[in-house]
Formats: sequence, structure tokens, C-alpha cells
Amino acid sequence: MLRRVFPEDSRVLEIAAGSGQHAAFFAAHLPSLRSWQPSDADPDALASIAAWTEGVKSVLPPLLLDVTADDWPIASVDAIVCINLIHIAPVAACEALMRGAGRLLPVGGVLYLYGPYRVAGEHTAPSNAAFDRSLQERDPAWGVRDLDEVTRTAEAAGLRRAEVIPMPGNNLSVVFHRE
Ligand SMILES: C[S@@+](CC[C@H](N)C(=O)[O-])C[C@H]1O[C@@H](n2cnc3c(N)ncnc32)[C@H](O)[C@@H]1O
Repeated sequence: MLRRVFPEDSRVLEIAAGSGQHAAFFAAHLPSLRSWQPSDADPDALASIAAWTEGVKSVLPPLLLDVTADDWPIASVDAIVCINLIHIAPVAACEALMRGAGRLLPVGGVLYLYGPYRVAGEHTAPSNAAFDRSLQERDPAWGVRDLDEVTRTAEAAGLRRAEVIPMPGNNLSVVFHRE
């Protein structure tokens, strides 16, 4: 998927990189990218990201980046990848992610999201409904987001939904392009 959706020579920003395992794997398997910039809002994640990505050629040192901050510590990217954030954060994080992507991406730039979604208001599997309940028990502000609502938030930030691809485990890949 990522080989196809990220143009060659892209500078990719990863938001909410967590442990850094995705950065290590994807950057190593996408040698045509110019750079992979991992980031996370949790200072403790940065050491893990640095350790996992050590020696992977195109990976830059991790950045502390909270999507809800007014300023993101990066000036220019071609593509943004964000895996498993918007359901494990308040809705404000999704809104801020879209605003930030709208600001930062050039026309035609790619925002790639991965995770579980409700579709037309309904869960796509009983396991996703159970996951949603468990998220809300942990924090009432968390929860599996509705794809149409996420799309409307993206459109308000100047992003057009280009593709929705079913993935294993009842997750979706959702690709937006900056208009
Ligand atoms: C469930 S983890 C996902 C990590 C990784 N992407 C994965 O799929 O394994 C959610 C991550 O989002 C980060 N996060 C939470 N709120 C954030 C925010 N406002 N801005 C950026 N990252 C945030 C957390 O620190 C955590 O690393």
C-alpha cells in the first residue's frame, strides 16, 4: 500500500510513531523514499523510536510533535502517515491532525491513515464494537471514529478522500490528497 501511495523521493512525516517499529520496518522496505521523519507527542516514545530505527538509512532523528500544538516542529513534507492515533485520542486530535496536514502538505500531498472505523455510523465487525467499548472505558473521549465524520473534518482542512482500502483485522487504509 505505502509503496503505491507515496510518490518516489517523498519526505514522509510519521505522526504518533509510538515504539518506532513501523518506522523501522516501512523505511527499510521503501528505499525509494527520500526520508522518513518519525514523531510522537510522548517524550518517552522518542528513545524507543531512536533505538528501533538506529541504522535505518532514511530515518531522521525522532521529533516531539503533538498534533494539537499550534506549531509543528517541521517546515515541509510531501506525505504524512498516521497509524492508530485518532481512535486512541479525543476528537480534537483528529481535527488538529487534519488542520496540520492541510497546512503542511503541498497540493497533491498524501495523508495516509490506518485504523478501525465505523462506516455509515455502524461498526464493521463485532470485534470493533467491543474494542470501541474498551476504548471508552479507558477514556470516554476515545473511540472508533466514523469514516464520514473523519472525511468531513478532512474536507474542511482542504483534503479530499482519494481511497478507502479494507485491511486485515477489520481495519481500513484511508488516503487523502491535499487539494
Ligand atoms: C496506539 S499508539 C499507536 C502507535 C503506533 N502508531 C502503532 O500503531 O503502533 C498511539 C500513539 O499516539 C501518540 N499520541 C497520542 N496523542 C497524540 C497527539 N496529540 N499528537 C501526537 N501523538 C499522539 C501516543 O503517544 C502513542 O504513541
